[in-house]
Amino acid sequence: MTLSNTTSRYGAITRSFHWLTALLVMTLIPVAMIASDLPYDTSEQLARKAWLFSLHKTLGVTVFFVALLRIGWALGQPKPSTLHPERRAETFLAETAHWLLYGSLVLAPLSGWLHHAATTGFAPIWWPLGQSLPMVPKSESIAALFGGFHWVFGKVMTVTILLHVAGALKHHFIDRDATLRRMIGTKAALPDLPAAAHSLRPLGAAIAVWAAVLLGGTGFGVYGTESSGAQAAALEDVTSDWTVQDGSIDIAVTQFGSQVEGTFADWTADITFDPTVSSGPSGSVEVVIAIASLKLGSVTDQAMGPDFFDAQQYETAVFKADLITEIDGYFADGTLSLKGTEVPLKMLFRLSVEGGAANMQANLTLDRLDFGIGNNMADESSLGFGVDVSIALTALRGDQQAIAE
Ligand code: HEM
Ligand code: HEM
Repeated sequence: MTLSNTTSRYGAITRSFHWLTALLVMTLIPVAMIASDLPYDTSEQLARKAWLFSLHKTLGVTVFFVALLRIGWALGQPKPSTLHPERRAETFLAETAHWLLYGSLVLAPLSGWLHHAATTGFAPIWWPLGQSLPMVPKSESIAALFGGFHWVFGKVMTVTILLHVAGALKHHFIDRDATLRRMIGTKAALPDLPAAAHSLRPLGAAIAVWAAVLLGGTGFGVYGTESSGAQAAALEDVTSDWTVQDGSIDIAVTQFGSQVEGTFADWTADITFDPTVSSGPSGSVEVVIAIASLKLGSVTDQAMGPDFFDAQQYETAVFKADLITEIDGYFADGTLSLKGTEVPLKMLFRLSVEGGAANMQANLTLDRLDFGIGNNMADESSLGFGVDVSIALTALRGDQQAIAE
């Protein structure tokens, strides 16, 4: 068994690389197609979809490294000459396809990996590397851009493989020549072929194909961000003794082992509070949060589904509490209504009041299962139980508000 290529035959190493990459790629493409079409309305469906995408990505990253080795090896090897040099057009097409395939072996996994690295929280790569990549920020627009490239490179590769396989089968069954047999490695009677001069025109043609398809993608808006399905209906303003000037309600969850952070953009707070009380009941608060205003990395849409927040049916969450001042701090004692479930909640908070301006901060951890969120994900491997909530706000008392205006 010869390891290296000759001008007539493929050596064992080239053949092993060829069939290993073929096997990996021809597995991961259908896996991606099936995964893309799967719904993710329930947590079970989401887990299945994520599992298939993890498989796709893990095989894809494997292909990337195998491809680098394969290309490194091919660079030092003669390319066996075509069996039919007189068929110039056919040779040109076959070599264009080979360039497209070599290029795709790098471009398809790399664009997928960059897309993955720019997103947070969905379907990890199972290798212990590359969930993030240096110089690739977590950003929806960058993710969408590379997602678009990945779509284009994935489709170019799929179509090229179909043509490449059709060509190989035509050689085998119609021409009845040894083209396929010399790649499989079965003993084939082959003439000693002279080294052929390889023109760079097929490479030019391959580059032209990528350029045309990439440009076509621009026309179809392939590289833009997709808008989230859920639309937040803006909450009505509330009049309150203390008016919130600015603030944030952030959450953090652990999905598939990585932290995903999110923010509710739309919420209102109706606050009464007497800062002169030194001990005992000192006011009340009612916070209304528009669920669909949540942005949660790349899993915003999934989070809105019926098994999770179910934003269509339960549009708002409401925290209603009495405020209690104690010698050594403050707490809000009340209930949180979320997804149709009311749960008692006691929340400690830090407060500083200067004149008529109050600064409040609180951190707490909720258990998603208390509210029936992701109930079918009964263990923490895909979605942690704890949801960390951070609240910060600045509010002005009514009389100060009038001065500020
Ligand atoms: C993902 C799938 C595949 C990829 C990426 C791929 C890639 C390639 C590349 C880059 C070459 C050129 C090797 C060289 O000369 O340097 C090649 C050759 C070849 N491939 Fe594939 N291939 C794939 C699948 C297949 C399949 C499924 C078949 C058969 C049904 C096949 C049959 C062949 C044959 C017969 C050759 C040799 C062509 C010749 O001697 O001119 N390939 N392949
Ligand atoms: C040879 C390598 C790869 C090929 C040929 C490939 C091909 C594809 C194809 C054809 C699709 C689209 C399925 C469809 O919508 O019909 C897809 C989707 C996807 N691939 Fe890959 N892929 C490869 C590697 C990777 C890698 C390494 C990653 C990430 C680490 C990745 C991440 C993704 C993601 C996240 C999607 C879904 C994109 C979306 O729906 O927005 N892929 N891939």
